[in-house]
Order: sequence, then C-alpha cells, then structure tokens
Amino acid sequence: MSKIKTTFFCKQCGNESPKWLGKCPSCNAWNTFVEEIVEKNIAQKTNWKEEYDSDAPRKNQRTIQLHEVENIAEERIVTQDEEFNRVLGGGIVLGSVVLIAGEPGIGKSTLFLQTALLLKTKKTLYISGEESSKQIKIRAERISLSNDNFYLLTEISTQIIFQEIKKIKPDIIIVDSIQTMFSPFVESSPGSITQIKETAAEFQRFAKETDTPVFLIGHINKDGNIAGPKILEHIVDTVLQFEGDRHYTFRIIRTLKNRFGSNAEIGIYEMKDNGLSPVANPSDIFLSSKEESYSGTAIAATIEGIRPMLVEIQALVTGSVYASPQRTVNGFDLRKLQLLLAVLEKRGGFAISNKDVFVNIVGGIRIEDPSVDLAVVVALLSSLEDKIINTKTCFVGEVGLSGEIRAVGRIEQRIAEAQKLGFEKIVISKYNLKGLQQTTFKIKIIAFAKVEELYKAMF
Ligand code: TYD
Ligand code: MG
Repeated sequence: MSKIKTTFFCKQCGNESPKWLGKCPSCNAWNTFVEEIVEKNIAQKTNWKEEYDSDAPRKNQRTIQLHEVENIAEERIVTQDEEFNRVLGGGIVLGSVVLIAGEPGIGKSTLFLQTALLLKTKKTLYISGEESSKQIKIRAERISLSNDNFYLLTEISTQIIFQEIKKIKPDIIIVDSIQTMFSPFVESSPGSITQIKETAAEFQRFAKETDTPVFLIGHINKDGNIAGPKILEHIVDTVLQFEGDRHYTFRIIRTLKNRFGSNAEIGIYEMKDNGLSPVANPSDIFLSSKEESYSGTAIAATIEGIRPMLVEIQALVTGSVYASPQRTVNGFDLRKLQLLLAVLEKRGGFAISNKDVFVNIVGGIRIEDPSVDLAVVVALLSSLEDKIINTKTCFVGEVGLSGEIRAVGRIEQRIAEAQKLGFEKIVISKYNLKGLQQTTFKIKIIAFAKVEELYKAMF
C-alpha cells in the first residue's frame, strides 16, 4: 500500500527531515529546507517470532555466500582519451555509474560528446534534457567528429528514456544532465531533490542489472557544492569534478571518489576552438615561459594524482591601506596561507600582519598537494624582500606550524621531473634525504630542516 506524503529536504546537502527546520543540522546552512512530495511504501510488519521458529525453507532466498559470487575480472571499455581513462582508473567499468559535476559552461557536454563520438566501436546513447538535437549537432560539427554508433535522444522523462533504451540497447549511456530528468513515479518537478534521487536510482538499477555504464552529468553551484547531486555521491561508484577558471583555457577533471581506482587522479585538458584537447605534459603549460624574472615568484614541484607537475606560484606582499589587511588567493587554500603567514611572523620575525598579501597559482588551476607550501613561503619572502629567485631553482616541502620543512611523498619522482625540465637546483626537506639516492640525479639537491635556514641561505 502506498500513500502520498511530504518530507523536507535541505537544498544544500540533501539532509531529510520530517518537519521544517530553520537551520540544517547536517551542513549548518540557514533557511535551506524545502518541502517536497515523496511517495513512500509503508512496510508491512514482520512477525519475527513465527518466521524464526518455522523450519520451512525460505522462499526466494536472495542472500548468498561470498564463494557463490561469480569470479569475473572487472571489464573496462578503454577510450581514446588517456586523461579520461586515467581519472576513471583505467577505462570505463561495465555497469558503473559515474557522476561528473561541474559549473555550467565549463565543458561537460563537450567532453562527453567528443568522448562518445571518438568511441567508434561502442554504441553510445547521449540523452540530453538541456539542449536540442540541433544544438548538439552544431557542437559535433564544431569539434568535427561524427560516428554512426552514436545515438541521440532529447527527452527528460525516464519512462520514455527506458523504452528507447530497450529498443536500441546501447553499450554506454550519458545523461546530460541529471537535474533535468523527470520520473513520473514521483510528484515533484525536475531538479528537485526527490526527482534527482529517484531518476539517479532508476539509472543505477538499470546499470547494475544490465552491466551498462552510465554517466550522470550534474551542475554544481557557485560554492562548489554538487548542489542536489551531492546526495548522489553515495549511490554512484565514481565522482568526478570538472574544474577550471573560465578566464583560462585549462580544465581539470579530479577524481573525488572511485570504487574502481585511485581517488587522487587528475586529467588535464585545454579547451580549444575545436573541443577539449588532452594535455600530456602539464608542466609545460603551467610554467609561464617568460624572458625576464621578477620577485615574488617561485616554482613548486607538486604531484597531482600520480603525475609530477611543476607550477609557478606568484605572491605579492604590499603595505595595506586598510585597517584590516587583505589576504587573497587564487588556486591556493586561504586558511593555509594564513597559517603560513603566521609561521613567518612568529618564527621568522617578519612583519606581515599589516600587509596585503596575494597568492596566485599560474594557469588558473587549484593545487591540493601540501608540498607547494615551501614555494609559497619562498614567493612570499621574495616579494617581501623584493629579491628575485633564480628561475632554475624549484621548491618542494610542506611547512609545519613550528616552521619546520616536512618531508613529502614520492620525492624521487618530483626531482626527476624538475631535472627533466632543465632545472638546476631543487630545494627539499632534510627529512626527505633518508634513503634518497642523490647520486642518481644530475640536478643539485639542497635540503633544509627549517624555514629560517632556508631564509638565511637564500636572502
Ligand atoms: P559546454 O560543453 O556546453 O559546457 P557545460 O556542458 O559544462 O555547460 O561548453 C561550454 C563552453 O565551451 C562554451 O562557452 C563554449 C566553449 N567551447 C569551446 O571553447 N570550444 C569548443 O570546441 C566547444 C564545443 C565549446
Ligand atoms: Mg552542458
């Protein structure tokens, strides 16, 4: 027996409550609860005692033992796009559900259109609830690709979608976007939390039952929350985030969760006139190639996912005209910057608290690797003291609260990348020297234990 009933959801995080709340107990946001109609099945009460006592074999027992599960290796569809394969952990796993989230206009539709059009051996179905077939055709012409195994369906009702799916039996399904999908089984309108949950659950069941991989495209709001789709994070197998600064052409896909691979991978692309082109050598593009050198810049040897990558950090430290000086970051964590400034102030005796501080990572990318700390500190000091850092030197190390330079993982890989790119010196943590075969590298390795030592040696 079913009954229509309503419940309240937090628009921000999807938290559910039977009654309206002013403040969400889960994400602490104010005034985010909305009422939605949901259909709930009232479960029948079980008479446990009676069922346990009877020895009659259970009808339709669905519980199985582990050894009864068929042993099959994960099958993957390997696409032509190396970056895309990498973020998925080596290709598309059959029956997997992948959520890809990004701000509007970042290039999600372009990425899936080109990936699907390049995959000639598999039948792909691209379901669009946002754009007309004409618009998609124009985009396909722009990226000059075509494919006879590519099917297009502009529809939002999952009922019709599944009927079409039964007819054409695709190998891969792309849903653009999950916020536009509509299931007639729930009352609320497309884009509401109940609809997103229900339609995603329908695609998830379909994926698992037929072993067809399904990609769900989702929009995120300004704060970077996968609004709405946040609630999908636990039902899908993989969550990818599409990032990038609109003013730059670089785009990064970051794996946030992956049941079938590492969740620290990134894929890098450049948005060109004719689609997204994968970037195999990220260091080449993130190091601004310039003739002159300036104070306030330092190069960091980072690792994103499994790939070493050299990025340029720019800092500007100037006297402030405001009562409370500004701290502005681009691509770097603001709280981390405040911490580094406090360390410099307290351990190094630098007067920074009355200065405006700006930190920028060149190329419009966001770096999560804490090993860039050292380069940030060097860039800050370089700007403060107005001294130029040798452009053939790069830095790697995490900076701790007492000003110590901490060891970072995979140091050999970082040193090798710096050497490959023609750097002459690399500054690392003293604690990274243990077990490091320094003689195998031609690049000069300089190690310090504390930020003060580095400062004394460099300035
Ligand atoms: P789109 O894939 O529509 O973004 P999303 O689906 O994430 O909303 O693409 C957005 C932008 O990319 C759009 O402003 C135009 C630009 N673009 C290019 O620069 N080159 C191209 O080849 C294509 C197809 C789009
Ligand atoms: Mg789109």
